[in-house]
Amino acid sequence: MLRDTWAEISLSRIRENMLNIRRSLPGTVKLMAVVKANGYGHGDIESAMAAMRAGADYLAVAYLEEAIRLRDAGVKLPILVLTPIGPELVQLALRHNLSLTVTSAKWFSEMRDFKPCPAGKLRVHVKMDTGLGRIGIRTKQEWDELVPWLQNEDVDVDGFYTHFATAGQEDTRFLEQQTARFLDMKEWARASGLVIRHYHCAGSVAALRFPHLAMDMVRIGAAMYGFYPAKLACPVKLEPALSLHSRLIQVKKLAAGEYLGYDNSYRAEEEEWIGTVPIGYADGWAQRMQGTDVLIGGHRAPIVGKICMDQLMIKLPAPYAEGTPVTLIGAQGGQRITFAELAAHIGSVAQEVSTSLGTRVARTYKDIEEVRTRWDKTTWPDDISQAVI
Ligand SMILES: Cc1ncc(COP(=O)(O)O)c(C=O)c1O
Repeated sequence: MLRDTWAEISLSRIRENMLNIRRSLPGTVKLMAVVKANGYGHGDIESAMAAMRAGADYLAVAYLEEAIRLRDAGVKLPILVLTPIGPELVQLALRHNLSLTVTSAKWFSEMRDFKPCPAGKLRVHVKMDTGLGRIGIRTKQEWDELVPWLQNEDVDVDGFYTHFATAGQEDTRFLEQQTARFLDMKEWARASGLVIRHYHCAGSVAALRFPHLAMDMVRIGAAMYGFYPAKLACPVKLEPALSLHSRLIQVKKLAAGEYLGYDNSYRAEEEEWIGTVPIGYADGWAQRMQGTDVLIGGHRAPIVGKICMDQLMIKLPAPYAEGTPVTLIGAQGGQRITFAELAAHIGSVAQEVSTSLGTRVARTYKDIEEVRTRWDKTTWPDDISQAVI
């Protein structure tokens, strides 16, 4: 590691979180581990390994590149690409044995060069929009146009799914509306006579709060990394897997009235000790983190002045030596900076904080060897291992 700023990730925490989630659900429910956006910033391949060790049945990513990266790393589990891909990329997806999200008949008609792949059928999950308003089929007419394409013998309809807009809200009325809409849509699917293997609608919060919504599979992202809405009581034990650390690279004394930071954004009220920490907005520590604290020597220290691209300054409670460890997320002494606290400060969710951590922040893994060794030894059911081209 060439730089004094690093994220430490506990893969056993990810595994434990997934095991706890699995235990809370009926045994027949499959677990899809969502490892998009570099495993919510925790490392995609490593998070996938930890999830597999907890018995994940399926993986999901947002984009084709993310799925191919996992295949190239030797991952053999089924992988669902959650965002529709360009029809011209279907052959590439087939070569990597990926499951694709389909949202329209138009997609099939544009897929002019679609030919059955020697490795098997085109495996799709149909996405239904029940109220999030993002992607998916909304009307019966759109569904009816799609059905003939799905009846093609080279198409395997592996899933039929939707995504909730308000699973983390205390008010459950919109979630109930979306559920009712999805159940109606399931009737369309049933009436079409298609054989559909997995109906799924629940992400982390819906799966944990309302286990009766688990259906055939749940798609777990946030909770696997230890995130859950702070305002709700979490029904299972979840622990954040990532902590973020750095070290002081310079310490100085400011006289009363002296400025620091771009635009003279901070002025010392009195004589103050200031430390510089090598992390900035180019690493994901955005200027809107202004007003939050870091930990040093077991104490809270506020960020002062505007956060720069590569560094930020903190007001030290004492003249610490250069090289002193600084914790930006996690515990030090009796103090803790939580994802929930940072998310509340920026008016967002924990996963925005973790996914913002840039590629310049080295990821270190506490227990990767244990997970990796076991992963290599794992044997998969025949149909899955053969499906990898
Ligand atoms: C379609 C879909 N399913 C599942 C997930 C995982 O959700 P969560 O991180 O809340 O578990 C996401 C995340 O954004 C998603 O877009």
